Amino acid sequence: MPGDMPQRAATVVIIGTGGTIAGAAARPQDLTRYRAGSLSAQQLIQAVPALAGQAIEAESLAQIDSCDMDHATWLELARAIQRHAARDDVAGIVITHGTDTLEETACFLHRTLRADKPVVLTAAMRPATAPSPDGPQNLVDAVLLAGTPGVRGVLAVLNGSVFGADGLRKVHGFRVDAFSGGDAGPLALLQDGRLRLLRAWPAAAPLFEAALQIDPASWPVVDIVTSHAGARGATLQALVQAGAHGIVIAGTGNGSVHTSLLQAAVQAQRQGVAVRRASRCLLGGVVDGAADGQSDEARWPGGIPSAGDATPAQARVQLMLALATALATALATAPFTAPDTGLATALATAPASGPAPEDRPRPAGV
Ligand code: SIN
Repeated sequence: MPGDMPQRAATVVIIGTGGTIAGAAARPQDLTRYRAGSLSAQQLIQAVPALAGQAIEAESLAQIDSCDMDHATWLELARAIQRHAARDDVAGIVITHGTDTLEETACFLHRTLRADKPVVLTAAMRPATAPSPDGPQNLVDAVLLAGTPGVRGVLAVLNGSVFGADGLRKVHGFRVDAFSGGDAGPLALLQDGRLRLLRAWPAAAPLFEAALQIDPASWPVVDIVTSHAGARGATLQALVQAGAHGIVIAGTGNGSVHTSLLQAAVQAQRQGVAVRRASRCLLGGVVDGAADGQSDEARWPGGIPSAGDATPAQARVQLMLALATALATALATAPFTAPDTGLATALATAPASGPAPEDRPRPAGV
C-alpha cells in the first residue's frame, strides 16, 4: 500500500547565516558598497522563482557579514545541521554564507560533523540587489546538490563548481569565479542543471567532533602570524603573552619562516604553545619533502610541524579544534583518581608571564 511506503527524504533545509548572497545595496550599480546579511533565508528563497514548489524549509540562523563569523555561531550552526540531518524526511542541508570566511566554516564543519547527508555551503560575490546577481543560480545549484541521492560530505558550490572543504580557498576579491579547490580542483561541476562528478565525494572526517562538547568560550585561543621581510619575533611573543594556546605561522613559500619569528616560535613551543607552519601562497600548501631523507624535526629547529595543504585560516581552525578535542578528552577522562592526562601538567606549566586569559585550561601535547 502506498501509505506504508517509507517516505523518500526529499526536503532540503536552507540555513541562512548572511553574507553578500543576502546583501542589499542602496543602488543596483553598487557591487562593492552594500550591507551583507540584509535578507533572511525566507526572503532569499522567495526571490528565486526556480525554487517555487520545491520541498524547502528555511531557517535564518544569523544575518551577518562573514568577516564577523564567530565560534559561538559555528557551534549553533553545527547543532542545527545535526538536528536537521537526523530527520528522515531531510535529504540535505544548504547553508547560505558570506564568501570571506566560507573556507573556514567549511573546514570547521568538515572536521566536526558526520556528514552522511550533503551539507552544502553556498554564497555570492554580488549582492542580491545587483542587476545580475550570482546568488540565485548558486542557491538553485546548492538545492539541487543537497537533494541529489548519493551526494555526501561538507561541500561548497559556487559559480557552477562543487568543492570539498579540503583545499577550498577564496582566491579573488570581487569576481564571481572567486573560489578554488586548491591543486586538486573541483569535485564536480553543475552544467545546465546536471551534476558531472569528477572525483569521489569526500569521506566524513569528523576528527574533532568532541570539540562540540566544549563551550566555544573555552575553545583554546589560536592566532595567526605572518612571516615576511623584516618579520619580528616580538609579534609572536606578544600573542603568547596575550594568551595564545596555539599559533599558525603563515610562512613564505613552502612554509619557510623568518629567523627572528622562528626563534620566537621555538621558544613558544618550549612553553607549551602548539605551533604550525602553513604557507601564505594562494596554492600549494606546505610540502614536507622527505626526498632528502630528513624528518621535519631535523629540518625545522624544534620540529615545527607543517599544516599541509590547509590555508593559514584553515590551519588555525584545525589546530584550535585539535586542542579543544584534547581538552575535551582530558576533561572526560579526568576522574577522581586523577591519572595525569596531560591537563594537570599543562595547567601547571602554563607560561607564568602574561595573563592566563579567562583562566582557560591549557591542553598539552597536540
Ligand atoms: C561576507 O563574507 O559576508 C561578505 C562578502 C561576501 O559574501 O562575498
